[in-house]
This record gives sequence, structure tokens and C-alpha cells, in this order.
Amino acid sequence: MFITMKKIRMGMVGGGQGAFIGAVHRIAAFLDGEIELVCGAFSSNPQRSIESGKALYLPEHRCYDSYQEMILCEEKLPEEMRMEFVVIVTPNHLHFPVAKMAIEHGFHVLSDKPATISLDEALRLKQLLEKHDQLYGLTQTYTGYPLIKQARHLIATGELGNIVKVVVEYSQGWLASKEDETSKQASWRLDEKQSGISCCMGDIGVHAANLAEYVSGLNMAELCADITSTVAGRTLDDDGTVLLKFSNGAKGVLLASQVALGDENNLKLRVYGDRKSVEWSQLESNTLWLKSNTEATQMIRAGVGDLCAAAKQAMRTPAGHPEGYLEAFANIYSNFAKQIRAKNAGEVCDNQLFDVPGIEQAVRGMAFIENVVQASASNEKWHPFSLKSDSNMGEE
Ligand SMILES: NC(=O)c1ccc[n+]([C@@H]2O[C@H](COP(=O)([O-])OP(=O)(O)OC[C@H]3O[C@@H](n4cnc5c(N)ncnc54)[C@H](O)[C@@H]3O)[C@@H](O)[C@H]2O)c1
Repeated sequence: MFITMKKIRMGMVGGGQGAFIGAVHRIAAFLDGEIELVCGAFSSNPQRSIESGKALYLPEHRCYDSYQEMILCEEKLPEEMRMEFVVIVTPNHLHFPVAKMAIEHGFHVLSDKPATISLDEALRLKQLLEKHDQLYGLTQTYTGYPLIKQARHLIATGELGNIVKVVVEYSQGWLASKEDETSKQASWRLDEKQSGISCCMGDIGVHAANLAEYVSGLNMAELCADITSTVAGRTLDDDGTVLLKFSNGAKGVLLASQVALGDENNLKLRVYGDRKSVEWSQLESNTLWLKSNTEATQMIRAGVGDLCAAAKQAMRTPAGHPEGYLEAFANIYSNFAKQIRAKNAGEVCDNQLFDVPGIEQAVRGMAFIENVVQASASNEKWHPFSLKSDSNMGEE
């Protein structure tokens, strides 16, 4: 018998007209034809939410005034119509309340980073997921690049030997001056109530931290941090440097800046083993360098040669036809769609199996931000990487 496969139905919170990342998410979600957008609450302003949904050709009755209305109305629709997962692309302070309500009403969640506004919220989210049967994914975008997966594979299979040093940098220049603070994106990122206790570390440091752990396969164990606000009048950091010690004793440096003039989205990673090293840069994302002291440096190119299965699966075009950021994002969507299909079929569906960053990465990301801010305020040199929140953890 021929069984018609259906697209997975997505509802979006945030991403209205004038927003940045919502449109990127929609492109990524649609790239493989696995997912369709069926509804949304796109703005805190009900009128703008409806207009944004109509501009995306959604029927008016599925463009909602608020995320609360969306979740309650979608829940009442027949199962084959209602959204299956909610993607959250709002400012940070809304990630937890939207995720919580969606999970409690039976919807899976794909959230943008940072997972929540505090470690306490991330731990509460973890507790909530332990009680409910919903899936949770986190769009740590850069894990989606094919050659990041290849670098991870080379390290996991011992090609580099024991890892001794990890250097990760994420620098941008778009918040370098007072004048840069007027955009919608800047104004909430610099407001603690909407952003959390950090701007730069919360916004991009968390990507760098995640990438270092994802590729090296190591967890951060201790850190020493120095964060700064370089522009007068700013209360949150726009630049910072963190020294790292990993679980195996390897050392590391993490550099994040939003005041590095001209630096675009300059994300770079170097991992050194005691045999070989790898080097990757987002600005040349289809090249991975494999180096040693004894052999000629190897330039590994996306699509050429015998790459690992995860890297091959993450590519859509033949070698040399550029792929990049949108496709890396789409790889998280594609894997999340497969994970939902596995769940619907009653099969094993954990995040690790499907290579989807999940609640463990969510908690580690929020812990990274809080540990860095606390370490930077202290005169002690090294601080254990703590997964405990100072706030009281409320029971969910
Ligand atoms: N993964 C990545 O690479 C990446 C890149 C950029 C941003 N982000 C994350 O995505 C999120 C959004 O960032 P952005 O730059 O797109 O911000 P933005 O300000 O451009 O967009 C936020 C959107 O959320 C909407 N919104 C606000 N309150 C809402 C509410 N109550 N209900 C519904 N919608 C509401 C706004 O109207 C706007 O449309 C942030 O958490 C950010 O950290 C991730």
C-alpha cells in the first residue's frame, strides 16, 4: 500500500516583519521540503503579528494575536491539522515561557539560543522535559556545517591524538559604537531584562562555547574570564576573553567580541591534538585544514573525498558549489524533522542519535554564560564550570 507522507507542521513565535532570524529559520525549515509553516504569533503587537502571517500567505485564522492564543487554539484543532512543533525566535526572555507552555500543551519545541534567560530557567526546562514526552531542539547553528562534522569525526576517531588545546573565536563589529544601539536587534540585546546578564557572551560567546565542546568532544571543566563593556553607558558586555580548562586537562581560549570593527561574523576554530590539528573558519566554511609537523598540510574540501557520513549527509550541492549558513541551519531542521518522524513511528528518538543540540547543550550554554559573568566579576583566577544555579530552582 502506498502511504502518503505528510510534511511536519511548524508554528512560529517571533520572526515578524523587520525581524532578523525568523526569516532565516523559515528558509532553513523549507529547504528540504520536509516542514511547512502552518501558523504563527510573529510579534508582541497583535496587529503586526497578523500582518506578518498574512504576508507569509498563512490563512487569517492561523495568524494569532499572541503565542498563548496560538498554543490554545492549535491544541483544539484536529490532530492532522494542528502544528506539531513550535519554533521560538523571539528575544531571549520569552524562550522559556513559550517553550514551557508549548511543552505542557503537547507540542515539541525547537528554540533559538540562548535557550533561556538564566541557568535557573534552563534547569527548570530540563525538569519539565523529564516529565513530558516532547522533543526539544536548540538551534546552535554552527554544528550544522559539514566540515564541522568532519572535524568532530576526525577528533572522535583519534586522527588528532589527545586534544591539548582548543582556540575558538567569534568576533563581530556591529555593536562598536553608541550609534549602533538604535536597531531593534541591538536594543533588546543590550537590555538585561530581555537579553539576560550578558550581551556578547550570551549572544555569540555561547555559540563559540558550544562549537568548542561539540567538535572537541570535551566538556569545559574550569574557566577564567574577563568581560568588558567598551562603549560608555552600556551595562552589558560587548567583548570578552575566557581561558578554559577542559575535562581531559586540555587548555583553551575563547574570544568573543561585538566591537571588532569589520569582522563580519568571524567565527574560527582551531583544535590541537598531540598528533595533528584542525583549523576552520566560517568565512571559508567549505575548507578544513588538517595539519601536523611531519606531513604536508591537507586541505579538506566539502564534497571531495571520503568524508564521514554526517558530513556527507549535511551537503546538498556538488563540491565547489558554495553552501553555507542557511544550509547549516537547515541541517538542524532536517535532523529535527527526522527525529519527530522517528518519535511518531515509536522508534528511538534521542537528540544525540539525530545530532540535534538538545536540553543538555541548553543547560551547558546557560551555565557557560553565568559562569563567565561570575568569574569575570571575581578576583580568583580559576572557577569550576558549575551547572548549579544560584537562584532557587522552582519545581515545575
Ligand atoms: N542561531 C543563530 O545563529 C541566531 C542568530 C541570530 C539570532 N538568534 C537568536 O534568535 C532570537 C531572535 O533574534 P533576532 O535577532 O531575530 O531578534 P529580532 O528583534 O530581529 O526579532 C525578534 C522577533 O520576536 C518578536 N517578538 C517579540 N515579543 C514577542 C511576543 N511576545 N510574541 C511573539 N513575537 C514576539 C518581535 O516582534 C520580532 O519579530 C534571539 O534569541 C537571538 O539570540 C540566533
